Amino acid sequence: MNKKKIVLKIGGSLLFENENKINSKKIIELCNILKNIQNYETIIVIIGGGTIAREYIRFIRNITKNESLSDIIGINVSRVNAQMIISCLEDKAFPSVPKSIEQLSLAVLSGKIIVMGGLQPGQSTTSVALEVAEFINAKEVVILTNVDGIYDKDPIKDKDAKKYDKLNYDELKNLIIEESDYNQAAAGEYRIFDTVSLQILKRSKITVLIGSGIDIKPFKKYWNGNIDSFGTIITEDYN
Ligand code: UTP
Repeated sequence: MNKKKIVLKIGGSLLFENENKINSKKIIELCNILKNIQNYETIIVIIGGGTIAREYIRFIRNITKNESLSDIIGINVSRVNAQMIISCLEDKAFPSVPKSIEQLSLAVLSGKIIVMGGLQPGQSTTSVALEVAEFINAKEVVILTNVDGIYDKDPIKDKDAKKYDKLNYDELKNLIIEESDYNQAAAGEYRIFDTVSLQILKRSKITVLIGSGIDIKPFKKYWNGNIDSFGTIITEDYN
């Protein structure tokens, strides 16, 4: 089988339970899947900030009214979360968190799983996943989050929400415009897709799969090559 390059984003929502307790069971489950992977040439995992990043951001924003500084605290928390995943992956992971694409380019030479957090203010870790995929020339980004795909409405608040199995880039853009509100581009508030992510997606024609990290079975089947996609698949055009 041809070895693949893959970028996986693990949303911060999967790492913590109520009151910001670390969700050890979920983290160990995810790390075991990653440790046992065989048929991939390069695996880069991007870790989100989660509710704990949002707590820090809320505090810093209130005190300083500085969005950039708030983003920087979010980036730092995502890097601590990344270091936690590295510890859990033991010798399968590159031991430190690359803080730039340049540092990543060196880490890739190790052949180990690379785990990263944020890069620079003004974007989400989804943008990091796409920037990294563009850099290593990966065709695919997988995003694991707390819902099983993209819906027309918030599925947690609205029981009638309808899930999309497929979306093309234009449909995704329209959804983002419809959903956007005044604080979409504030620290801690970037949606699963922010505008930076959209731009990278368009110019590099990356396929994105978004699905559940809570019910992990569909992702496992996909990761092991037993199914072609899961959750919502986003491509430039439908094939
Ligand atoms: P995310 O909002 O991307 O993490 O990063 P998350 O919790 O996984 O988000 P979901 O699961 O997609 O909702 C946390 C915060 O860190 C800052 C932003 O403020 C972001 O909201 N950040 C992250 C940056 O400023 N730049 C980056 O490159 C990454």
